[in-house]
Amino acid sequence: MSTPGLIDHPVSLGTPVNCTACHSPGASELESVPFPSGVTIDTFGSSAVCAVCHQGRSSTNTVVAATDGLEDDTVSADLGFVNVHYAPSAATLMGGIAHGGFEYPGNIYKGRFDHVPNLNTCTSCHSPHSLEVEIETCTTCHQGIASFDEIRISPTDFDGDGNTAEGIANPIADFHRRLEEAIQKYATEVTGVSIAYNSATYPYFFVDTDGDGTASEAEAVFPNRYQDWTPRLLKAAYNYQLVVKEPAIFTHNPHYALQLLYDSLQNLSEKVEVDIAGLTRP
Ligand code: HEC
Ligand code: HEC
Ligand code: HEC
Ligand code: HEC
Repeated sequence: MSTPGLIDHPVSLGTPVNCTACHSPGASELESVPFPSGVTIDTFGSSAVCAVCHQGRSSTNTVVAATDGLEDDTVSADLGFVNVHYAPSAATLMGGIAHGGFEYPGNIYKGRFDHVPNLNTCTSCHSPHSLEVEIETCTTCHQGIASFDEIRISPTDFDGDGNTAEGIANPIADFHRRLEEAIQKYATEVTGVSIAYNSATYPYFFVDTDGDGTASEAEAVFPNRYQDWTPRLLKAAYNYQLVVKEPAIFTHNPHYALQLLYDSLQNLSEKVEVDIAGLTRP
C-alpha cells in the first residue's frame, strides 16, 4: 500500500487479522503510513502497523471533493452519504494532522492527542494480542475511576451542565445527542424530508417516513436511504457517524471530538435554530 485509496494488487478475501498481518518483514519495517487525506504519518513507532487498518477510508478531503462548488443549503442529486468506515482510531488519535473528521474551513483543530510519554502509542495502552487495555495502567494517575469513560482531566465545563468531574466521554455524548437533534431539525425544515439514523445498516441515514425520530427496521432499508442531501447536512452527518463508529474517541482524542461536534452544531445553527449558547469549544 503506497497510494491512499488505491489497492493496486489482488488481496485474497477470507483471511482474518492473522499473525502475518503484524509479523512479516514488511510490517516490522513499516515506519510511515499514508492516510486517506493524503498525509503520511511516521510517528507511530512500532504501532505503525495498527494505523494501516485503523485509519478509516475517508477524510475532510473526501467531503470537500463531494460538496465542492455546491450551494450549502441546496439539495443535490449528486450527493450521497460519505462514510468514514469504522474503528478509525489512528486517524482520530492524530486529529487535525490526519484530518479524519470533517474539519470546517477556518477553524483550528487539535492535532495528536498528546498523552503521557509512555502511553502514547497504540500498543502502550492496548495489549497487541488480546487488544485489551488494563484499567490498572490508568488508575495510577486517573484515580478513583471504575471504567475508562469516567476519566476526566479537562477543567472546562464544555456542555455547561455545571459538572466538571464527570468523564470527558459525557460532554462528547451530550454534544453528539444535540447534533442528532440538530440534523433532524435541519432536514425537516430545510429539505422538507425528515431524516433518521440507524448505526447498524448501510448507508446509515434513512427517510424518517413516520417522523418519530428513529429509523425502524422497516425504514432502515437501502431503497429508503436518505437522498435529499445538502452539503451542510452531509458535513454534519459525516461527523455524527465518525463519533458513532469510533466509540473510544473519548480516550483517543477527546478535544478533537468535541471540536468536530461543536463546529457541526455551530454550522447548522447558521441555518436553523440550534441552541449552542451554553456550550464551549475546546
Ligand atoms: C495486530 C497485530 C498483531 C497480530 C495480529 C499478532 N501480533 Fe504478535 N506482536 C505484535 C506486537 C506489536 C508485538 C510486540 C510488542 C512489543 O514490541 O512490545 C508482538 C509480539 C509478539 C511476540 C513476542 C513475544 C511478546 O509477547 O513480546 C510473539 C512470540 C508474537 N507476537 C507472536 C504472535 C503470533 C503467534 C500471532 C498469531 C497468532 C501474533 N503474534 C499476532 C502484534 C501482533
Ligand atoms: C490487518 C488489519 C488490522 C490491523 C493491522 C490491526 N487491526 Fe485492529 N481490528 C481490525 C479489524 C478488522 C477489527 C474489527 C474486528 C471485528 O469487528 O470483528 C479490529 C478491531 C480492533 C479492536 C477492537 C477489538 C474488540 O474486541 O472490539 C482493537 C482494540 C484493535 N483492533 C486494536 C488494534 C491494534 C492496537 C493494532 C496494532 C497492534 C491493530 N488493531 C491492528 C483490523 C486490524
Ligand atoms: C491512552 C491509551 C490509548 C491509546 C494510546 C490508544 N487506545 Fe485504543 N482504546 C483505549 C481505551 C481505554 C479503549 C476502550 C477500551 C474498552 O472500552 O474496553 C480503546 C478502544 C479502542 C478500540 C475499540 C473501539 C470500539 O470499537 O469499541 C480500537 C479499535 C482502538 N482502541 C484502537 C487503537 C489504535 C489503533 C490506537 C493507536 C493509533 C489506539 N487505540 C491507541 C485506549 C487507548
Ligand atoms: C502517568 C500518568 C498517567 C497515566 C498512567 C494515564 N494518564 Fe491519561 N492523562 C494524564 C495526563 C497528565 C493527562 C492530561 C493530558 C493533557 O491534557 O495534556 C491525561 C489525560 C487523559 C485523558 C483526557 C481527559 C480529559 O478530560 O481531557 C484521557 C481520556 C486519558 N488520559 C486516558 C487514559 C487512559 C485510558 C489511561 C490508561 C491506559 C491513562 N490515561 C493513563 C496522565 C496519565
